[in-house]
Amino acid sequence: MTLAMNAIHPVLWGADQVLLIDQNRLPQTYCQVAISDYEAMAQAIKTMVVRGAPALGIAGAYGLYLGARAIQTEELGVFLAHLEFIADTLRQTRPTAVNLSWAIEQMLNVAYTSGEDVAIVKEKLLAQAHQIREADLQTCQAIGEHGLNALPPRPEKLTILTHCNAGALATAGYGTALGVIRSAWAAGRLARVYADETRPRCQGAKLTVWECVQEGIPVTLITDSMAAHCLQQRRIDAVVVGADRIARNGDTANKIGTYSLAVLCMMHNVPFYVAAPLSTVDFRLQDGTQIPIEERDPSEIYQIGDTRLCPEGADFYNPAFDVTPAQLITAIITERGALEPSQLLTLQGE
Ligand code: MRU
Repeated sequence: MTLAMNAIHPVLWGADQVLLIDQNRLPQTYCQVAISDYEAMAQAIKTMVVRGAPALGIAGAYGLYLGARAIQTEELGVFLAHLEFIADTLRQTRPTAVNLSWAIEQMLNVAYTSGEDVAIVKEKLLAQAHQIREADLQTCQAIGEHGLNALPPRPEKLTILTHCNAGALATAGYGTALGVIRSAWAAGRLARVYADETRPRCQGAKLTVWECVQEGIPVTLITDSMAAHCLQQRRIDAVVVGADRIARNGDTANKIGTYSLAVLCMMHNVPFYVAAPLSTVDFRLQDGTQIPIEERDPSEIYQIGDTRLCPEGADFYNPAFDVTPAQLITAIITERGALEPSQLLTLQGE
């Protein structure tokens, strides 16, 4: 089945509930899951029905509204105490992507500044969740445009490698890294995408390839360990990845395997770009050592489907993200332009 690009909306509001594309079932099955309470949203985030930093923010915002609407009180103080509990539950679902806690802060801010009438506060929370979603579409399009201008001028048609999925599925519907790629494709500057498989959960193979195929963008799938060889063979002109959290000095957490790509780019003199909205920058953190790294269930690495890959008796370590030091990053592409990591601080407060 092929969908029109504008049909990829991973988080949508409809008929008084949230509709999530079930990303665990792609590419075999495209289906939506209806979420009508915050517990179900927390579970969908933990189990990665919805994933990708900006999409997590949008899902968290709607999740908080779903929790808010079920609170049965007219007393603002009681309402806010319940809301803080729900906010904590949602924040704890996935710790690395700062967009989740960023969006929840935006929502709480609305709750604390919308007067005494709980019914009105609830209405404003829903409006804020819609606003966060709509703003992300505009933001990603701006990232796409700035990224297009930041790409190397030669060759005319670029081959770009990306890691994980930072596409429509990871945002409101356009993508950050894949947004840059999409803009390059529309401008006639893209020859081909190389998609890293992205073990252990294979978001590259399952989701990035799916998105490229939907749009007719030529895509070549490689396993993560083939990237070094491809760079050495000069098959790749640029690497563009997304981000889950960026510290104020530009150190960037993204899907595990991103750091090794950045080292490879340095070795082979290939530009390495991070594309992310400003909501992914955590100006409270001095550097990447302060970014919390999520560890996930070891079954993600010791089995594929129902098949166990290794004998019993081993221990496991399954970090979901790594941190790329700022000095390996050519530019961070935000909705305000493409900057060297050291210039990031000039955007604080925007
Ligand atoms: O574990 P995931 O699938 O949520 O990880 C996603 C990534 O690492 C993306 O690159 C990042 O969130 C940016 S999405 C625009």
